[in-house]
Amino acid sequence: MGGANRDGFTLTENASMRGRNTLRIDVRAARLAEIHDAAAIPELLNHPSLRGNPLLLLGEGSNVLFVDDFAGTVVTMKTRGVEILEDDDDVSRIRVAAGEHWDDFVRWTLAHGYAGLENLILIPGSVGAAPMQNIGAYGVEVGEFIESVEAFDLHARRFATFARADCEFGYRDSIFKRNPDHWLITAITLRLPRNWTPRIEYSGVQEELRRMGVEHPAPIHVANAVADLRTRKLPDPAVIGNAGSFFKNPLVPTPQADALRAGHPQLPSWPAGDGLSKLSAAWLIEACGFKGSREGDAGISNRHALVLVNHGRATGNQLWALAQRVREGVRARFGILLEPEPRIIGA
Ligand code: FAD
Ligand code: EPU
Repeated sequence: MGGANRDGFTLTENASMRGRNTLRIDVRAARLAEIHDAAAIPELLNHPSLRGNPLLLLGEGSNVLFVDDFAGTVVTMKTRGVEILEDDDDVSRIRVAAGEHWDDFVRWTLAHGYAGLENLILIPGSVGAAPMQNIGAYGVEVGEFIESVEAFDLHARRFATFARADCEFGYRDSIFKRNPDHWLITAITLRLPRNWTPRIEYSGVQEELRRMGVEHPAPIHVANAVADLRTRKLPDPAVIGNAGSFFKNPLVPTPQADALRAGHPQLPSWPAGDGLSKLSAAWLIEACGFKGSREGDAGISNRHALVLVNHGRATGNQLWALAQRVREGVRARFGILLEPEPRIIGA
């Protein structure tokens, strides 16, 4: 392992990725570039050791599955900084650097009296990755609040700014997710309106608030309710390696959802617009008997059927093979093809 310091970035040869992905897969990258100043990106890309090598953009590794070593350069944004661009009675506009930790930023907004992001508390990962899959939880998606995304275009080799409409946000989807390693996201600007109303329609949130004895919730109450629900439902990556939901909830034409529900009335489904319904992937997986199952150190969480876990020394290949079996099981029984949510690297 070797290190080399340059202004604005650091290069490390033959870097271990084990502590840089929450599934804790033990792989290596030929090179790791950590960027501390976005202005240094062009200089980094001209560095002789990077030329001709593939790049892989990585944040905190909470939504990736490494199936193999990476033969090129892993590039990570380590830039910090939160800047209030505008703050009046109507709206607050806040710019955040890509290297900030998302959950720290959400807590910062709450501590400083800005509302809107409370349902997105406790989502692991970096600010720079938040627009990638338009992170969402408990009835809210970050795209609703994104005014713009700043990025470096790695093809055209220039800085670019995306307005929200250019980001093409959808459920666990964006232009960035569909074009991995094209744009290195360097900062986002959020627009948080001052006219706040709580978003507590998602199943379980109101019950949790009642349990807490809260009648008229403030943003911090919603945050606490969501944090409690998440902590109860999802395994903690610090305790057992996982990447959150391993599959997206499938979107199917509503008549197909209705037909499935005729045979399986307990299958949860939600209207998703455009004549589509969203089905619960966790329910489908649990119904196939996979919940809590284990093949060596690769397993399905016994707390949540949508979460693949590494019990210790599972390889990326073992987890990927298990994911294929889950997919095949659900397809055979229900005719639904599940799509992985994390990025699979090297399969
Ligand atoms: P990484 O995993 O490092 O990367 C994810 C993708 O983003 C990769 O394609 C990578 O190439 C790309 N990327 C990363 N940084 C940049 C950048 N600066 N520029 C361009 N591309 C980049 N997600 C939800 O939406 N909702 C949830 O409720 C949720 N809960 C989770 C719970 C747990 C326990 C875990 C482990 C994960 C959960 N996730 C959830 C998934 C994950 O937290 C998010 O996808 C998060 O945004 C990933 O951030 P990261 O920095 O770890 O990205
Ligand atoms: N369910 C089961 N078995 C389980 C777990 C859940 O049948 O083991 C059923 C529940 O009964 C419930 C339904 O599945 O009716 C939905 O469960 P949950 O509320 O836990 O939500 P989810 O659909 O499994 C999604 C996101 C999560 C996000 C939560 C809360 C996806 C792929 N996952 O999970 O995001 O935190 O909603 O909004 O959309 C992630 O993306 O990594 C992630 C964790």
